[in-house]
Amino acid sequence: MRLGATIPNFKAETTQGPIKFYEWLGDSWCVLFSHPADFTPVCTTELGRIAVHDHEFKKRGVKVIAHSCDKLKDHKDWVADIKSYCLDIPGDFPYPIIGDEKRELAVLLDMIDEDSKDDPEVAMTVRALYIIGPDKKLKLSMQYPASTGRNVDEILRVIDSLQLTSRLKVIATPANWTDGGEAKENDGDEVSREETARNAKKEQKTASVLPGTKVMILPHVKDEDLPKLFPKGVEKINMPSGITYVRTTTDY
Ligand code: BEZ
Repeated sequence: MRLGATIPNFKAETTQGPIKFYEWLGDSWCVLFSHPADFTPVCTTELGRIAVHDHEFKKRGVKVIAHSCDKLKDHKDWVADIKSYCLDIPGDFPYPIIGDEKRELAVLLDMIDEDSKDDPEVAMTVRALYIIGPDKKLKLSMQYPASTGRNVDEILRVIDSLQLTSRLKVIATPANWTDGGEAKENDGDEVSREETARNAKKEQKTASVLPGTKVMILPHVKDEDLPKLFPKGVEKINMPSGITYVRTTTDY
């Protein structure tokens, strides 16, 4: 699927009951992600870490839904394993997992591995992750192979960038940008199971607000419009080329 494509309105069976995608999504942002198979180690850590950070997705108005070509019954049994392995998932498992045994949705959403795509019996989904906007359009796509688990901090970071730049259409976020936000303790690391259990018990986190890092002003924005758009200031960088295309601000 290409960026900007409209995600089709599919029906699916999930661990939280049947859904019609558009109805389930409403006006929210969405992370829809596939994994190769239930009862596999890396997938267990991915679904677990995303569940642990469920509050971070909720805070951003993002609904999360997982997918694989396994049976719903397997998903339900596997969730008990995920909860047992990731000791810091509070309460019920927070998001639905789609059961797509016939692989129809996997094909529709372009999540199938190229090597196995012609054999429907064994075709495996890759680690595809789609961030979908409230307009149901694909805003960002990541595809990782089975060998490599995804990073939840990076997923949250790109959501922050997508939401900021959809609100403020005159900027873009540079490499390694983060929005500052709250300082976190041990957040997102696959630390020892004992440590995660201790963290789960820690009700009070020492959070402080950090400043966001600078963002880039888009080239089409005219210099004369900058004071109105960014009253707290803009930095213009002199380049050897003599072209002033790097203009930054923290006023957002
Ligand atoms: C895993 O999640 O560990 C995994 C799944 C499929 C193939 C390889 C690894």
